[in-house]
Amino acid sequence: MLSVKNIDVRYGGIRALQGVSIEIERGETVLLLGANGAGKSSLLKSVIGTVKPVSGDIVYAGKVVTTLRADQRARLGIGYSPEGRRVFATMSVYDNVLSGAPGISESARKDAYKRLSGMFPLLADRAMQPAGQLSGGQQQMVAFARAMCASPDLLLLDEPFLGLAPIWIKQISDAIREMKKAGTTILMSEQMAVPALKVADRGYVLRGGEVRHSGSVDEIRSLALDEEYL
Ligand SMILES: Nc1ncnc2c1ncn2[C@@H]1O[C@H](COP(=O)(O)OP(=O)(O)O)[C@@H](O)[C@H]1O
Ligand SMILES: [Mg+2]
Repeated sequence: MLSVKNIDVRYGGIRALQGVSIEIERGETVLLLGANGAGKSSLLKSVIGTVKPVSGDIVYAGKVVTTLRADQRARLGIGYSPEGRRVFATMSVYDNVLSGAPGISESARKDAYKRLSGMFPLLADRAMQPAGQLSGGQQQMVAFARAMCASPDLLLLDEPFLGLAPIWIKQISDAIREMKKAGTTILMSEQMAVPALKVADRGYVLRGGEVRHSGSVDEIRSLALDEEYL
């Protein structure tokens, strides 16, 4: 479904990614594991189109999308939940979630919110509350719902566990499983190996802007035990 082929990303003189290739099949949940600065966000942003690789290609659903804008890629079914959640603090939960599908009719908005409330029960209780009043875990649910609003086929999650208490890591993990069950293919980045390996089918280890390992969750779990950088 997605092939990232040998991409390089640079920010001025900084080489953020070098020769990175990954493959994702439809229906999988794939983990991108790496410490701070490994290049996880740069890779996800290259896939959604907000960062332009200096070389290499990105193929999505059989189509080279490397030169397409982010909004064009979104229309092809690529969704994204950013690192740090980025909800609009003063906007209601309802408007935050619906900002994920701009330009739809009022009745389509209501239907979408109802559908998403089935997947994220918190939405029903908190619809009119400003999102900034919610806990970090609740805001992560809102960010997921916003990303799911346009019913993406491929969903990218950038460090969904970042800064969350263990109870919320469990609930966010369940939400990721629900999104997978609904038919969404998922690429998630994380630095927290233990909980992330529980939701993923397989993974890649990124370090210093390069893919260092790829394999099953069991293989990556044993690497994570051995190597301090995880
Ligand atoms: N906008 C930017 N300008 C300059 N350097 C950046 C920028 N974004 C990321 N970097 C650098 O690129 C490298 C990879 O960063 P990033 O992709 O954010 O990694 P991660 O998400 O794994 O923490 C790091 O060295 C980081 O400092
Ligand atoms: Mg990052």
